[in-house]
Amino acid sequence: MSDSLRAVRGMNDMLPAEGALWRQFEAIVRDWLAAYGYQELRTPILEHTALFKRAIGEVTDIVEKEMYTFVDELNGESLTLRPEGTASCVRAAIENNLLFDGGKRLWYMGPMFRHERPQKGRYRQFHQVGIEALGYAGPDLDIEHLLMGARLWKQLGLAGCVTLEINSLGGAESRARHRQKLIEYFEAHRAQLDEDAQRRLYTNPLRILDTKNPAMQDLVSAAPRLMDELDAEARRHFDAVQQGLTDAGIAFKVNPRLVRGLDYYNYTVYEWVTDRLGAQGTVCAGGRYDGLVAQLGGKPTPACGFAMGVERLLALMQEAGTPIASDPLDAYVVNVGEAAARFALQAAERLRDAGLKVALHGGGGSFKSQMKKADASGARFALIIGDDEAQAGEVSVKPLRAGGEQQRVKLDNVTQLLKKG
Ligand code: HAM
Repeated sequence: MSDSLRAVRGMNDMLPAEGALWRQFEAIVRDWLAAYGYQELRTPILEHTALFKRAIGEVTDIVEKEMYTFVDELNGESLTLRPEGTASCVRAAIENNLLFDGGKRLWYMGPMFRHERPQKGRYRQFHQVGIEALGYAGPDLDIEHLLMGARLWKQLGLAGCVTLEINSLGGAESRARHRQKLIEYFEAHRAQLDEDAQRRLYTNPLRILDTKNPAMQDLVSAAPRLMDELDAEARRHFDAVQQGLTDAGIAFKVNPRLVRGLDYYNYTVYEWVTDRLGAQGTVCAGGRYDGLVAQLGGKPTPACGFAMGVERLLALMQEAGTPIASDPLDAYVVNVGEAAARFALQAAERLRDAGLKVALHGGGGSFKSQMKKADASGARFALIIGDDEAQAGEVSVKPLRAGGEQQRVKLDNVTQLLKKG
């Protein structure tokens, strides 16, 4: 196949063999969200570029170099494939006045797009499940979100595979104080800053703390800590979150260097990480963003939320050996002959009326070759129909998984036999 017709680099097909894993994950997630009273929100995959620039921050990796942005040639608008879900969620809440009667707990699931260098666990189209609680100021919601995470890991068979790191970024004033101290500190060590850090020194010095450059790790470790600048209110909030975790028996580590790659956060931030997936070990991340609703034009509204990377969690489930429930076909209908083909169509529909999962062989072929397909389909039974059976209104039922003899029965009795077996 010519390269120009292949899938875009970093964007993957979900193949049939992976379907059971995705469906199991999604089913568990939906039940888990319902158990906490969250409501689904679906937003468009395309938004105006300005939304993400305003929400995520101009001087962030996402906005500076990872967005799929293009001009709609039909009207000259700059549009962007969503790199994350929080901005869209807040936009939709403001635009549709969702908060008119108080707070809302929302969730979304779907593809996100970032032009990153693809590698294991990092894709240009990836999927997130995210939740956003809009309109709640207290630490109780931060705690709820962390408890939700812990419960979900258990339900996915991942307890013990992920650990929690938390931090507080404080409010605007503590951040301004810390920012000033950081600038002074990095100015004093300017020679050790790489190009990225030089560029961000005055625009977004906090982001320098997030550097992956090994040569800058010592410098960054010794930098002034935001934690030391927290005001009393931020400290109380952070203490309450930690208390909530302790009360619930959830282990965590305070990581004062955790700053996140998006600018909208304040107060609590956190990441759930694993050491079992190599370099891309953050499976879920989020925190509080009390300023974002107002920043996007809504009434000042406190908020918090998180998003998880679906591909990373699925890889972790496989790595951890989480059992994947299969959902096999009940029957594969083998049919040879013209009258048999007509009767097989009717028979298959009849069984589906009774709620059975039935694949009808297509494309002809001998009994032998059809039986091979029946076996490979994973179906519990082969239903064998020749012109002979068709004439008699009967079906030969052959168990493919459990033992047992082949039996020839009236079509009316097949459902009962299959439901029993
Ligand atoms: P984020 O940390 O940018 O936060 O992304 C959340 C999660 O998405 C990551 O922890 C990771 O598991 C997954 N992820 C991110 N980029 C990729 C990629 N290129 N390939 C595969 N997986 C990826 C947010 O997006 C925030 N909106 C989270 C949030 C919600 N904060 C508050 N509410």
